[in-house]
Amino acid sequence: MQVIVSGVRSFFKMAGKVPSIRLNSGYDMPMLGLGTYNNFKPNEVGDAVKAAIQIGYRHIDTAWRYETEPEIGVAIKELIKEGKVKRSELFIVTKIWGHCHEPHKVEPACRESLEALDMDYIDLYMIHFPVAYVDKVRSKTTMTDYVDTWRAMEKLVDKGLVRSIGVSNFNKQQLERILKMDGLKYKPANNQVEITPYLAQEDLLQFSLKNGISTTAYGPFGAPGQIYRTKNAPMFLDDPTIVKVGKKYGKSSAQVILRYGIQRGYALVPKSTNPARLAQNMDIFDFKLSEVDMKTMLLLDRGLRVNLQNFIAYKDHPFYPFEK
Ligand code: A2P
Repeated sequence: MQVIVSGVRSFFKMAGKVPSIRLNSGYDMPMLGLGTYNNFKPNEVGDAVKAAIQIGYRHIDTAWRYETEPEIGVAIKELIKEGKVKRSELFIVTKIWGHCHEPHKVEPACRESLEALDMDYIDLYMIHFPVAYVDKVRSKTTMTDYVDTWRAMEKLVDKGLVRSIGVSNFNKQQLERILKMDGLKYKPANNQVEITPYLAQEDLLQFSLKNGISTTAYGPFGAPGQIYRTKNAPMFLDDPTIVKVGKKYGKSSAQVILRYGIQRGYALVPKSTNPARLAQNMDIFDFKLSEVDMKTMLLLDRGLRVNLQNFIAYKDHPFYPFEK
């Protein structure tokens, strides 16, 4: 089904209540997923994933770096065993970390994630960040080029280990470099970046849409309560403009932020470990923000990143993707 979203033509298919984006690989990605990067206590992420799937989430976002793959794998396996969901109904995203960017390390890294998740394919496998590191703890960066990593990622598709490949935290120039690389076989299916009401990323979003690359927003609420969040950054969920828009529709600020993203045409992976909030975040498909409210939301953009702390140490590296 073709739906017009904010004047942008996108291909959406309704899967239950949650619309999907048709990726350039031909697979469908549900537009609402569960983010799983946090400082979890034991079992917390597994319980959140179980609650989310039972509420109706089908897209689960993880990464080698989050250290949540094993617990997510166990939780999903239990649900499959109990007949609550089938593997084929799920869309599992994970990411390769910078210590495995050298081409010969890419397949072993993918197999490590598959083993941790206890799955035989990954729906979307992404380069987590464009900068490479010598080791897991990021003691030093290297000059391994993400274009060479991409060539090795393409082979994973051909081997059937992953269905789609993508990138995360890439800027427009870096996407362009991949699109223009010699012998490109598969375009990135998705770029996962920070998008919030205060960081609209309109340029990157439009460039990606034009080039058939879908976008996913991480940390859509500005990661309240997370230790990696920029200190003293404003709390987006308390923004009076967003609260006011929400009141018009009888929705919370969180729901307005998610709905705003859906109407702009990107997927979102908010995090929550609380079943009531997991359900609230899913309850965004029975209303539509008016054009005026969409414009009001877009005007909140001020180019403010709050998820910088994990990456700022690499700001002098030529592949550092953010503003300096
Ligand atoms: P909790 O796990 O207690 O629900 P982000 O996705 O931007 O990183 O934000 C994640 C944070 O936002 C989590 O700490 C989560 O807390 C909180 N959160 C998730 N959903 C909601 C909601 N609907 N209302 C308020 N806070 C929320």
